[in-house]
Amino acid sequence: MCGIIGISSNKSVSASIISSLKKLEYRGYDSAGIATLFEGKIKEVKSEGRVDTLEQNFDLKNLKGNIGIGHVRWATHGVPNSVNAHPHSSDNVSIVHNGIIENSTILKKYLIKKGHVFKSQTDTEVIVHLITENLKTNELEEAITQTLKQLHGSFALGIVFKDIPDLIVGARRGSPLAVGYGPNENYLGSDSYALKSMTNKITYLEDGEFCIIKKDQVLFFNEDGTKINKKILELSSDDASYEKGDFKHFMAKEIEEQPNTVKTGIKEYVDKPNSEINIYNFPWKIDEINSITLIGCGTAYHSCLMAKYWFEELTQLDVSIDIASEFRYRKNRFKKDKLYIFVSQSGETADTYAALDLCKKNNMKTCAVVNVIESSIARDANFVLPIHCGPEIGVASTKAFLGQILILYILALKLGYLRNEINKEIYKEKIKDLQNLPGLIEKSLLVDNDIQAISSTFNEAKGSMFLGRGFSYPIALEGALKLKELSYVHAEGYPAGEMKHGPLALIEDGMPVVVLAPRDSYYKKTISNMQEVIARGAKVLLITNKSKDEIVSENIWETIEVENTNDDLLPFLLTIPLQKLAYYSALKKGYDIDKPRNLAKSVTVE
Ligand code: F6R
Repeated sequence: MCGIIGISSNKSVSASIISSLKKLEYRGYDSAGIATLFEGKIKEVKSEGRVDTLEQNFDLKNLKGNIGIGHVRWATHGVPNSVNAHPHSSDNVSIVHNGIIENSTILKKYLIKKGHVFKSQTDTEVIVHLITENLKTNELEEAITQTLKQLHGSFALGIVFKDIPDLIVGARRGSPLAVGYGPNENYLGSDSYALKSMTNKITYLEDGEFCIIKKDQVLFFNEDGTKINKKILELSSDDASYEKGDFKHFMAKEIEEQPNTVKTGIKEYVDKPNSEINIYNFPWKIDEINSITLIGCGTAYHSCLMAKYWFEELTQLDVSIDIASEFRYRKNRFKKDKLYIFVSQSGETADTYAALDLCKKNNMKTCAVVNVIESSIARDANFVLPIHCGPEIGVASTKAFLGQILILYILALKLGYLRNEINKEIYKEKIKDLQNLPGLIEKSLLVDNDIQAISSTFNEAKGSMFLGRGFSYPIALEGALKLKELSYVHAEGYPAGEMKHGPLALIEDGMPVVVLAPRDSYYKKTISNMQEVIARGAKVLLITNKSKDEIVSENIWETIEVENTNDDLLPFLLTIPLQKLAYYSALKKGYDIDKPRNLAKSVTVE
């Protein structure tokens, strides 16, 4: 949430800052700003809206200075406007901040008493005045150490100083921050993606650490202000994955990439010639794990729910799931024989990270299913299962969802086999079916014409429902989430069997209802539930799989048939038309598909 860039160079930095900010917009896009140091002064420009608006409002080509910081914001404290946009500056200090300062009200009172004048409604502005205050009596490093100690909450900071004009300070607690190294210049970024076009040499700050970045030198310190050495990592560069190519939106590209996502996942974990699953370096003995808890947020939470059905089908393990923001504050009973699995595309989601941290503090076994392998969650878990799906730029998660559920399915299958809870024949059969999945996804993607026509009905309705049972229930939740986040229409995911316990009252003439009823063991039950909503006037879009058996039901509005495979794998195929439904609904409404309102890709605040 929010994006930070900082550059210290031997040449003008504003053009590079603008281009990095454009890349960072996926993290927040309600306002943007830049501050540079030039001729002994801090020059600050900021405006409400996107980076494009900032460019329209100011002559950025003439924003001079060899040192600068920039920010794109996702508002927490204070409405999105140009006053609350970052950077925030005093006469001597200018700051960009990601995170939340929890004791800002107390600090503000203290600083006002000292004569500081506040301009914005943000929590960030207290940091500006606190550092300014601490610099009155301390050298730079002491002032930073002292300030960080006084702050409660989470932050990633980029700071420049009028009176110390050759450096940028970066500091991290709870929100990620990376340092990059270039020729005659060095960088600060809220993630490596922001720095990718300038360097692939990166160092990640750990919680409590800060750094001083000059054009030809970077120094690192721990929270006591003691100098430390840190490793430089070399990231692989895959620039094509960061471009839209011929697609109109990243989301469209990412949906179409899914056969490849699944192919790559299978290649990484399945030994094709031997029909065997390889999970290397699993750090625990199989009999050390008797239960599993899966934890995530949003779409990643839906992956956890999906996995629960598979773990229960393929193993005898006791499986529970949790929303990270609930788990972290509940009185959990930690168990030594439990594996805690954290699912996250970004690997930076604040609530998921805090849940992981809690498990680590209680010495639990932790495993991360992540896309970004350099992320905080990946770095801090005992064991990592990467989903290998490449950068996901569209704010709405699509290919990462399929990547997550693939790896969780593979893990469930392997554990079931190792625990002798599924026999060898079934295990090998399921691995064989898995190999056909990319091809089936590819065919299931060919539904654009049907879905485009259907999507208007969902846009025009007051609301819609997405129903499924068993393996299809998590997919119904995911379909509803995609539609509401992209098209801003109300959509509710429900277990089909629950409708008669209340939600049926919502059904009225012409209300669009998606029913996921593949020909699995739940089929007949789901079809009965579908009849119940049709009888009350619902316009049902039935999504099922191809079969020689006719559908024994009347008055279905529209039917979409995905390819056929074993029951376990049908959720992968059912997901596709729902992603496209959300995409085309938003497209028809002319909404910003890759950057839906009020949202951001990486949710690094709680
Ligand atoms: C919805 C979506 C979000 C994320 C959630 C967790 O389309 O993308 O619900 O799934 O914010 O993000 P990660 O997976 O990065 O932890």
